[in-house]
Amino acid sequence: MQKKPWYRNFLNDLIEALPRGERLLDVGTGPAKLLQILRREKSMECTGIDTSELMLEEARKELDGEEVALFCVKKDESFPFERNSFDHVTLCNVLFNLEPETCYHLLEESLHVLNPAGKLFVLTPTGRGGFWKLSRKYFSWQNLSMYIWYAATRSRARAWAEKHYLESYAKEKGLRYTTREVFDGFAILEVICGD
Ligand SMILES: C[S@@+](CC[C@H](N)C(=O)[O-])C[C@H]1O[C@@H](n2cnc3c(N)ncnc32)[C@H](O)[C@@H]1O
Repeated sequence: MQKKPWYRNFLNDLIEALPRGERLLDVGTGPAKLLQILRREKSMECTGIDTSELMLEEARKELDGEEVALFCVKKDESFPFERNSFDHVTLCNVLFNLEPETCYHLLEESLHVLNPAGKLFVLTPTGRGGFWKLSRKYFSWQNLSMYIWYAATRSRARAWAEKHYLESYAKEKGLRYTTREVFDGFAILEVICGD
């Protein structure tokens, strides 16, 4: 799925928002498609973590020697990094699938390792738009997996949007929260930062 053309469109606004050359941690990196792009196109210092060794194996194959650090972590453990180790943290397609306690843990850990002037980006499907809009915008044999992604994520994605979890979290921590729809309304990009 991550190799298909539509997945690049899903990531595009996030890629554009990230400055060149800075230190990035991608939490729940999976096959590390985002890191592969950011390493090649923006020369970022990339680190990815995931709880699945199988996913990280896949990532190593995809990265094919590209300079990206990958770590396998346990679900409830602290991230293996010092305070202020990263300028940005990304969570793509991750939080909306998890229980609130796990989301909370990942957010706390992300803020712990993030530079206080840095930003935390969360990219999530919206579950909105419908099959008709999807077909109008993206119909092509190469994009068939987008239909599967849309159908598989729709109900959890809508539940995530309705909970306003990140907005409440940012408020509780006294942090700034912004949100905008991206990917023709099929995804939402939420940002938390200190200023
Ligand atoms: C749907 S995949 C998304 C992968 C990638 N971010 C992307 O957008 O293509 C979710 C990933 O999050 C990982 N994951 C789930 N729970 C996690 C946790 N508590 N800590 C780190 N990674 C986790 C899964 O193993 C999986 O690789």
